[in-house]
Amino acid sequence: IPSQVLTSGLEASQAVAREIADLIRLRESDGQTCVLGLATGSTPLDVYAELIRMHREEGLSFRNVVTFNLDEYYPMQPTAAQSYVRFMNEQLFDHIDIPAENVHIPDGTISLDDVAAYCDGYEQKIAARGGLDLQLLGIGRAGHIGFNEPGSTLDSRTRLVTLNDVTREDAASAYSGIENVPRQAITMGVGTIMQARRIILLAFGSSKASIVARATEGTVSESVPATFLHHHSNVEFWLDETSAAQLS
Ligand code: F6R
Repeated sequence: IPSQVLTSGLEASQAVAREIADLIRLRESDGQTCVLGLATGSTPLDVYAELIRMHREEGLSFRNVVTFNLDEYYPMQPTAAQSYVRFMNEQLFDHIDIPAENVHIPDGTISLDDVAAYCDGYEQKIAARGGLDLQLLGIGRAGHIGFNEPGSTLDSRTRLVTLNDVTREDAASAYSGIENVPRQAITMGVGTIMQARRIILLAFGSSKASIVARATEGTVSESVPATFLHHHSNVEFWLDETSAAQLS
């Protein structure tokens, strides 16, 4: 998997934001919407900050942008401190001119009886918008993309999943203890992600060095779902020097 290694995560994030802005403007000049797949977590924060800056200072408009977030905890109220709805509003959407109806985030309030149909509907909405132009990803320490934990298959679609212990440990501080971290989530599948026309995976910091090396240089396997990205023809990892430290 090709990777771009920059000295800092901030530099990498600004370069990725620039690519996203160029894509938004290109699609707009063609009279098209730009369909973005977005991630939460600490990794994309500087990308979102840079997009907000470009909106404020360079006139970058999001009126023709449609977004689909990767995942949401389940169950989760949108108003809860840890909800990804709240995260996205605070980190991006409240600060740009995206129409509210263009924003899609999996709904953590859907009843268990309705969740399968809801997930099918999420897939249909992505398809109805013409598919994802660009999917932004982070990576979990055990190799998840979205919340596709080890064991997820290449053809998996949007669904309710069980979170593994590494993921729940990494979320524990946000929930003041692992016992408060939800055990499940709704996530786009590996197959959903793989249909994006371009994929950018961001990973920063030494805690990601080992999984970045396994994901980019290891054999393709369900035990590290990020390795499925080897099968994508337009994917790049954007790294900083510390996350790239174990690449050969
Ligand atoms: C978030 C998501 C996850 C994170 C990953 C890394 O929407 O889908 O796969 O990207 O867990 O999280 P951070 O960036 O907090 O290290």
